[in-house]
Amino acid sequence: MHEYLILHGVNLNMFGRRDPAQYGTSTLAEIDAALRALAVELGVRLDIFQTNHEGRMVERIHQALDDGTRGIVINAGAWTHYSYAIMDALGMLSIPVVEVHMSNVHAREPFRHESVLARVSAGSIAGFGPHSYLLGLRAVHALAAPDGSPC
Ligand code: DQA
Repeated sequence: MHEYLILHGVNLNMFGRRDPAQYGTSTLAEIDAALRALAVELGVRLDIFQTNHEGRMVERIHQALDDGTRGIVINAGAWTHYSYAIMDALGMLSIPVVEVHMSNVHAREPFRHESVLARVSAGSIAGFGPHSYLLGLRAVHALAAPDGSPC
């Protein structure tokens, strides 16, 4: 069974209470529950991790080198825009990485248009609220287990 790692970065534990115009009212626990339900449907396992500490995020990514993780879905929050440390950690992996964002970062302030993680990601999904995560899980599964390919 494929195992994927879902990574939630800085401030994302505050979803549901944080800027509902941008991020809606779903809590992170609700998003995780929806991801777990989709994982059952896809027949895959998930490990879900959230931290507000950049070094802990880097260390969790290091673990993925050896723990059988087959792909990563990451919403790095504001780290997306400037964390070369997280970019370097993801860059050590040879599994697919999909970047996701709840809000449409490209329609927001200019600093959010840049993702330093883009160069180590297979692609990104932004602007669909909690669905960004579900689409991200489908995307990483399509890349890691292409047997179910529609083409
Ligand atoms: C975010 C977008 C980032 O710019 C922001 O710093 C976040 C959340 C999103 O999910 O839309 O914390 O990653």
